[in-house]
Amino acid sequence: MKPRIVLAGGSGFIGQSLSPFLLSKNYEVIVLTRAGSDDRGAVRNVHWDGKTLDAWLESVNGAFAVVNLTGRSINCRHTPENRREIIDSRVNSVRVLGQAIARCAQPPKAFVQIAGVGIYGDKGNRICDETASPGDDFVTKVCEKWEAAFDSIDAPNTRKVLLRLGVVLGPNGGFLGLLGRLTRWFLGGQVGNGRQYISWIHITDLSRMVSASIENWELTGVFNATSPNPVTNAELMRELRRALHRPWSPPVPEFAVRIGSWLMGTEASLALVSQRCVPKRFLEKHFAFEFPEQREALANIFPKR
Ligand SMILES: NC(=O)c1ccc[n+]([C@@H]2O[C@H](COP(=O)([O-])OP(=O)(O)OC[C@H]3O[C@@H](n4cnc5c(N)ncnc54)[C@H](OP(=O)(O)O)[C@@H]3O)[C@@H](O)[C@H]2O)c1
Repeated sequence: MKPRIVLAGGSGFIGQSLSPFLLSKNYEVIVLTRAGSDDRGAVRNVHWDGKTLDAWLESVNGAFAVVNLTGRSINCRHTPENRREIIDSRVNSVRVLGQAIARCAQPPKAFVQIAGVGIYGDKGNRICDETASPGDDFVTKVCEKWEAAFDSIDAPNTRKVLLRLGVVLGPNGGFLGLLGRLTRWFLGGQVGNGRQYISWIHITDLSRMVSASIENWELTGVFNATSPNPVTNAELMRELRRALHRPWSPPVPEFAVRIGSWLMGTEASLALVSQRCVPKRFLEKHFAFEFPEQREALANIFPKR
């Protein structure tokens, strides 16, 4: 029997790449989703509501590992209702997975919780490793509550790893979905003054970090899951134009970012915040990045036709 990995919230952008990666490593993959159960594909979907213990508990019992990717996207207007859903979807899913693990006759060997570098807030040029202090904006508050819920899980027989993700770069959506389209339409100028740092990770390296977290008994606690080379927004946009064969585009001034974000139903702060994070703990563990540099990462995601 293949070892089973349960991906809670695995139907989204990251899960869609992580599932085939884990299947290729000969794992059985089960996705917990608010959609209906379905066992016709290579990945089995099991219904849950993300907050209540139910029949899905059986998928967790005897699993090799649980990876929690659940969370309503923060890429929306931060109205009171959206704020509540952003926090609740994260905290509730962590809590109920903790309760499920506590009930298991055979608890999973590892619980990998996905979180974000948003916990550091806006740090300008300052380099953030895992010991950096939290920020003071809404996204920081979300991350603090998310991590506190994970911290409070008492699972003596399950190793716990928390990955603070940077912006995940991959094909078919995520951060590069909209940015790639804008750049193709000759709207790929730097955002604001372009000096804000973006901590990023290629989806392949993220999948490899998740599988390392599942398999490597030495990995425990909090890790920045970012490439070792964060870039400024101006550098990112320049490399994106290069990868997509587009010429220089005029910068998008901050007031236009604010108007554009409002029109697109999101928050300008998400495009203007500066986070210069480094994966200190993964580097100490000698994690070998396949895509440490932005140019190679983008060339892989947008290959020459
Ligand atoms: N992508 C990035 O660049 C990035 C960066 C930093 C952190 N992260 C974090 O990584 C995780 C996965 O990211 P992703 O890009 O794969 O996100 P995604 O595409 O939005 O997928 C997240 C999944 O969470 C579930 N979900 C959404 N709203 C929910 C709610 N209200 N209650 C319960 N479940 C809900 C959905 O599954 P169902 O609809 O099937 O139930 C969805 O497929 C998220 O927590 C995100 O915050 C992502």
